[in-house]
Amino acid sequence: MLLSTKDILLAAQQEKKAVAAFNVFNLETVQAAVRAAEEEDRPVIIALGERYLPTVDLEGFAALAIAIARKATVPVALHLDHAYEKESIVRAIRCGFTSVMYDGSKYELEENIARTKEIVELAHMAGVSVEAEIGSVSRGAYSDEEEGEGRLTDPADAKRFVEETGVDFLAAAIGTVHGMYTGEPKIDLELLRNIQASVQVPLVLHGGSGTPDMIIAQAIESGICKVNINTEVSLAAVSHLIQFASTAEPQRAHLSTIMADMQGTILPVMKKFVKLLAQQKQA
Ligand code: 13P
Repeated sequence: MLLSTKDILLAAQQEKKAVAAFNVFNLETVQAAVRAAEEEDRPVIIALGERYLPTVDLEGFAALAIAIARKATVPVALHLDHAYEKESIVRAIRCGFTSVMYDGSKYELEENIARTKEIVELAHMAGVSVEAEIGSVSRGAYSDEEEGEGRLTDPADAKRFVEETGVDFLAAAIGTVHGMYTGEPKIDLELLRNIQASVQVPLVLHGGSGTPDMIIAQAIESGICKVNINTEVSLAAVSHLIQFASTAEPQRAHLSTIMADMQGTILPVMKKFVKLLAQQKQA
């Protein structure tokens, strides 16, 4: 069923679990995300990054994802990830996305507050929830995201930001990176606990790929309710396709089979995350 992102994340916050938000952009990846969630009986968030809009038809994608979400046996939400332009946000709201992320993290706090507040006002009028980011997540290896400054979130700024913007979820920069880590991950869980103590809204962890399971589990204990995952899924698919291409004969392989096999390769990667995020800490 299609459900509001806010309802899904408030329920996750109550049960001290997190929900996977998979960056997807076509039929195969949407189907895999929903199937992974169904097989684990957990909610899931289908996330499309604004950066894919030059090649992905937003309205067409929404129609496809919403139809699949409605048939799903678990709650599914539809989220616009890392949007920098008001125009894409308005389009996403019009075609049925249940939440949007406005990314004003490159601006100074005052300007990020002013811009985010305007987005929150317009999205809330349509019943759509908003995620925003303060501090800035940097980019590690193989990531397809924009470069960030790697500035950690200040808890006092987080408090002010949430109060003044009315944002529904907050992406906190605590040292995770978009993409894979090139050295030892340096993730500040103490900072996360201070942010959690400063704000009531569900917190979002960007840069799920490559983050050690133990850190993800501890982050969920400290208020993370949504974990974004992109690179690990893409790496699995691309490695599979390269391997396949090195042996396949074009006359013998049909594209539909190749796509189905690729989907079969990413399903266990997605399931691993869905399962991990649903685990509760043993007392
Ligand atoms: P990864 O690419 O590290 O999984 O991060 C994805 C993300 O945070 C998208 O917003």
